[in-house]
Amino acid sequence: MSDQLNRVQIRLKENGSIRIKGIVDIVDADGNVIETKSDFSLCRCGASQDKPWCDGAHKSCGFTAPEGVVTK
Ligand code: FES
Repeated sequence: MSDQLNRVQIRLKENGSIRIKGIVDIVDADGNVIETKSDFSLCRCGASQDKPWCDGAHKSCGFTAPEGVVTK
């Protein structure tokens, strides 16, 4: 598999979630893969009723945070 296919982008959205672009394994505390997902958002405001996933609650809870981009 080429380097390009393994690349994952993590974007901290302004006043919002952590957006993941790419294929990643979600693991439990022991490192066991419990799910493989691509292109999804993690909650960073703490208000989601479906943690760790973003459910859009950041839009109404008053959460503020800067935009950011981290790539690997
Ligand atoms: S960041 Fe979207 S619900 Fe928390």
